[in-house]
Amino acid sequence: MSTEPAITFSHVARHFARSGEANGTTAITDLHFSIRTGEHICVVGRTGCGKSTSVNLLLGLLPASSGSVRVLGVDPYQDFQRLRGRIGCVFQSDRLLPWRSAIDNVLMPLEILRTRNRATFASATELLARVGLAGYENAFPHQLSGGMRQRVAFARALITEPDILIADEAFGHLDEVTASALRHDFKQIARARGQTVYQITHSLDEALEVSDRILVLDRPGKVVGIFTRPQWEGGPDLQRQVKQDLRRLIAGQETTTEEAQ
Ligand SMILES: Nc1ncnc2c1ncn2[C@@H]1O[C@H](COP(=O)(O)OP(=O)(O)OP(=O)(O)O)[C@@H](O)[C@H]1O
Ligand SMILES: [Mg+2]
Repeated sequence: MSTEPAITFSHVARHFARSGEANGTTAITDLHFSIRTGEHICVVGRTGCGKSTSVNLLLGLLPASSGSVRVLGVDPYQDFQRLRGRIGCVFQSDRLLPWRSAIDNVLMPLEILRTRNRATFASATELLARVGLAGYENAFPHQLSGGMRQRVAFARALITEPDILIADEAFGHLDEVTASALRHDFKQIARARGQTVYQITHSLDEALEVSDRILVLDRPGKVVGIFTRPQWEGGPDLQRQVKQDLRRLIAGQETTTEEAQ
């Protein structure tokens, strides 16, 4: 088995040119960390600190301005084709196609990969049941609640059995009860399949609940803190302390607690 990390950012920077501005915007100054296979990472940090830009780099939608990004051993921008079907992603909005039924939305990635068939129809039905939507296969997005639509989006991200799952504020606009149930299912499925998870969130409770490690980013795009599960799972006092530290770091009141790896 390969010992190479599932994801590696090596001194990555990303700048955006802007017309009328001499220097443009620096979204990411220096991201330098790696994530091992099967690890569940949550990334937190205030708005504009480069979280979604890091997702776009992982998805190969953007090249790094300098440094290198590796996903499953390849450069996601240069070798985009080699990662097709190997990364599943869910965003804040469900991005479902309104003219397709739930099951046809779930099967869409397989159509793009040209692997849709009778067996995959069965797995899509099973997956919809796994995320709590048995009986809704033929419902259209407008017939589903926001939480149910987001469940379809999760099933669509999972249908290719990707090695890596990315969730960019995917639970952010759901009510806490719905979000918590969906988070739980997502975590269980990812763990059972040994998938690596890169999850962006503004909710510290969400981060503490699901992650093996929490990375704190600050503007412009650098890691200012790393916390590992043993630091907070020893009891309510530890958890309270870590939460306080996270809040301070996010507010920009402290610097690094641990070296980025
Ligand atoms: N395509 C782009 N062109 C120009 N600037 C961009 C582009 N994408 C992101 N930026 C800038 O990069 C910075 C980081 O944006 P990003 O979307 O990564 O932040 P974020 O951490 O995801 O914020 P939020 O928590 O609000 O989602 C911002 O200043 C943003 O304006
Ligand atoms: Mg964002």
